[in-house]
Amino acid sequence: MASFHKGFIKTHPLISVILYVLRLYLAFSTVSPATTAVDPCYNYTVLNDTWRSINNTDGLHYNNSKCDRSVSWSGWYRLFINNTSAHIPDTCVARFSCGTDIPLGIRGGHPTVTDGVVTRDVCGYGVDTAASYCCMFGSFPIKVKACPDNYYVYELVSPTDCNYAYCADTGSINTSSTSVTPVTISPDPCYNYTVLDNPWRSINNTSTSNSYNCDGSVSWSGWYRLFINNTSAHIPDTCVAQFSCGTDTALWIRGGHPTVTDGVVARDVCGYYDSYCCYIGSFPIKVKACPGNYYVYELVSPTLCDSAYCADTGSINTSPTTVTPVTISPGNVTHALCFYWLIF
Ligand SMILES: *[C@@H]1O[C@H](CO)[C@@H](O)[C@H](O)[C@H]1NC(C)=O
Ligand SMILES: *[C@@H]1O[C@H](CO)[C@@H](O)[C@H](O)[C@H]1NC(C)=O
Ligand SMILES: *[C@@H]1O[C@H](CO)[C@@H](O)[C@H](O)[C@H]1NC(C)=O
Ligand SMILES: *[C@@H]1O[C@H](CO)[C@@H](O)[C@H](O)[C@H]1NC(C)=O
Ligand SMILES: *[C@@H]1O[C@H](CO)[C@@H](O)[C@H](O)[C@H]1NC(C)=O
Ligand SMILES: *[C@@H]1O[C@H](CO)[C@@H](O)[C@H](O)[C@H]1NC(C)=O
Ligand SMILES: *[C@@H]1O[C@H](CO)[C@@H](O)[C@H](O)[C@H]1NC(C)=O
Ligand SMILES: *[C@@H]1O[C@H](CO)[C@@H](O)[C@H](O)[C@H]1NC(C)=O
Ligand SMILES: *[C@@H]1O[C@H](CO)[C@@H](O)[C@H](O)[C@H]1NC(C)=O
Ligand SMILES: *[C@@H]1O[C@H](CO)[C@@H](O)[C@H](O)[C@H]1NC(C)=O
Ligand SMILES: *[C@@H]1O[C@H](CO)[C@@H](O)[C@H](O)[C@H]1NC(C)=O
Ligand SMILES: *[C@@H]1O[C@H](CO)[C@@H](O)[C@H](O)[C@H]1NC(C)=O
Repeated sequence: MASFHKGFIKTHPLISVILYVLRLYLAFSTVSPATTAVDPCYNYTVLNDTWRSINNTDGLHYNNSKCDRSVSWSGWYRLFINNTSAHIPDTCVARFSCGTDIPLGIRGGHPTVTDGVVTRDVCGYGVDTAASYCCMFGSFPIKVKACPDNYYVYELVSPTDCNYAYCADTGSINTSSTSVTPVTISPDPCYNYTVLDNPWRSINNTSTSNSYNCDGSVSWSGWYRLFINNTSAHIPDTCVAQFSCGTDTALWIRGGHPTVTDGVVARDVCGYYDSYCCYIGSFPIKVKACPGNYYVYELVSPTLCDSAYCADTGSINTSPTTVTPVTISPGNVTHALCFYWLIF
């Protein structure tokens, strides 16, 4: 998948002088000479995959989405795009950029030449329209070095998951040294939800009973993902008959489900009564479509009893929604708190 070729080892004249002085010094000192590894600025592998470009949105189509985990990384790398020297972005990068699902950048800015080899955390930018959490995926450290002649080399390692891939940019670089101030940022609700598996919510449960379930008595908090007997489910987005879903007034959402790229959207909750599909209600909840074909809902207490959120495993109506473009503040990456998150 990735194409490399070895960079030739060339010794900078200034380095030769320094090495010579160093050898002289060692010769006249009692210090035993250390093993001298070649400066990675002059011993690197070229990584010139055009698909790594920050402008490549092929990652949106899962089949084209690249993953760096299977690459046998070894030693130091210098990035190029179309023969132009490139670098790993040090600011927030939108999801699905760089030919992958989770583009990898570094947090904490680039070093200067005098900084020598530094360590930087690799961050996977789980950014979408919902919120900003630039370092949601990752983080693991790599070594970074600024070289004379205005380029950078990176000691790359395998990322922790798929599809993660290192991004390449030719744009601006932040060389300010960092004191990272962590701030608390909510994680993506797609990966932080409460499981709601009440088989009685099934849309097929039309058994009449004296005691209907009421969601008004539940202390709802945060995001929920629905299951029916371990099968992933969703709130119906079409009208549901009264006395379904283990309750009197079954609650559904109006306006269809969003797509993954829509991010978090608001949908009105409706309950059928007196031949109107949205007679009871309506109040908004937040809804999000997640990669992996499931949905999460920020549920709240319904306005009256007996009503309860319905669960269905049937078809879904993904209505087109106006998508708000992803705007990314360059400063956000350095203020992001990293979460280790097990996904997939
Ligand atoms: C990357 O470099 C190799 C070796 O020089 C070359 O064969 C290949 O075509 C280059 N790939 C791109 C995309 O520039
Ligand atoms: C993606 O790949 C799978 C299996 O390789 C294939 O079944 C599917 O049709 C592909 N989808 C697209 C959009 O190419
Ligand atoms: C250059 O880098 C390669 C791969 O990282 C390493 O195996 C090799 O030892 C290095 N060469 C020198 C002279 O240090
Ligand atoms: C690289 O060059 C090719 C051919 O000139 C061009 O189509 C492509 O857009 C370029 N890619 C980038 C990321 O600059
Ligand atoms: C990249 O540079 C090499 C040598 O400088 C040249 O042979 C090659 O055609 C260039 N490739 C592109 C895509 O510009
Ligand atoms: C990405 O697009 C921007 C704006 O068009 C451009 O300035 C930049 O050079 C592009 N980056 C790469 C790596 O092609
Ligand atoms: C859930 O599982 C229980 C026990 O296996 C079964 O009685 C019930 O009918 C199932 N409910 C649904 C909605 O599938
Ligand atoms: C169906 O809903 C009723 C409440 O109306 C509940 O008592 C019953 O347990 C539910 N049945 C199943 C199979 O979940
Ligand atoms: C995950 O969601 C719960 C419930 O909404 C919340 O209390 C918790 O703080 C969230 N986790 C993180 C890491 O923010
Ligand atoms: C409800 O019944 C329909 C028709 O039998 C079935 O296709 C569907 O899977 C059932 N839904 C649930 C949630 O059990
Ligand atoms: C950057 O982060 C701040 C604070 O977390 C937030 O208020 C702001 O909306 C974010 N900017 C963007 C463009 O996401
Ligand atoms: C560069 O990094 C510093 C500290 O990390 C930060 O305060 C500043 O906003 C960043 N500038 C840009 C353009 O990202």
